[in-house]
Amino acid sequence: MKRLFALMTALALACALTACGGPGTQSNPDQSTPPASSTPEAGESGEQTVEGGVLVAYFSATGNTEGIAQHLQSVLDADLYEIVPEVPYTDEDLNYSNDSCRANQEQNDPAARPAITGTLEQPENYDVVFLGYPIWWGQAPKVIYTFLERCDFGDATIVPFCTSGSSSIGSSADALHELTENAQWLDGQRFDSGAGQDEVAQWVDSLGLDL
Ligand SMILES: Cc1cc2nc3c(=O)[nH]c(=O)nc-3n(C[C@H](O)[C@H](O)[C@H](O)COP(=O)(O)O)c2cc1C
Repeated sequence: MKRLFALMTALALACALTACGGPGTQSNPDQSTPPASSTPEAGESGEQTVEGGVLVAYFSATGNTEGIAQHLQSVLDADLYEIVPEVPYTDEDLNYSNDSCRANQEQNDPAARPAITGTLEQPENYDVVFLGYPIWWGQAPKVIYTFLERCDFGDATIVPFCTSGSSSIGSSADALHELTENAQWLDGQRFDSGAGQDEVAQWVDSLGLDL
């Protein structure tokens, strides 16, 4: 009986040591190698859960663009990345009726590149990038420029979207094109801050992308 028990124990041990669990039980057997896409830090509130493929990256000073970005993430089952300025914008900074407020100064300065926190890991893993921002004086905020100059998206397709008080997305993305050498830019879309998930989903469908 003892011998039978010893034999069964040995068999069980051998089984455990030789992948008896079958294929797929361990997605990344070599734990010393990170997966093709990993979970990076992304600054104070930047978040990223990378699984590759489609990314929704956005900057939002007062939450409107963030709402649309979240709808997009749900619709696309995409990764979500918040572009976070190193120095957050205060109400005073955003008071555009004051000529010398920070936001206005940055928008008026072609060289302005406000620092951002965190790093988007492995941008080259994304085939499609939805890029969201609020319209500031008809243009994208300069933190978007900082972000694009830092990330090389290769030949990814970039799809801009925005929120605004009333302005269309207009030519706001045109100045961004030259910051990405090989990316293919699609026309963008402006949303009201209160746009719902259905409206966002309809827009995504209309793009005809293979997502
Ligand atoms: C500095 C500044 C400039 C703005 N310029 C415009 C503009 O040109 N046209 C417009 O319709 N809205 C303009 N807005 C309003 C924002 O685009 C709008 O409130 C947007 O939804 C804010 O998005 P967020 O909450 O994601 O930051 C401006 C806001 C700020 C702070």
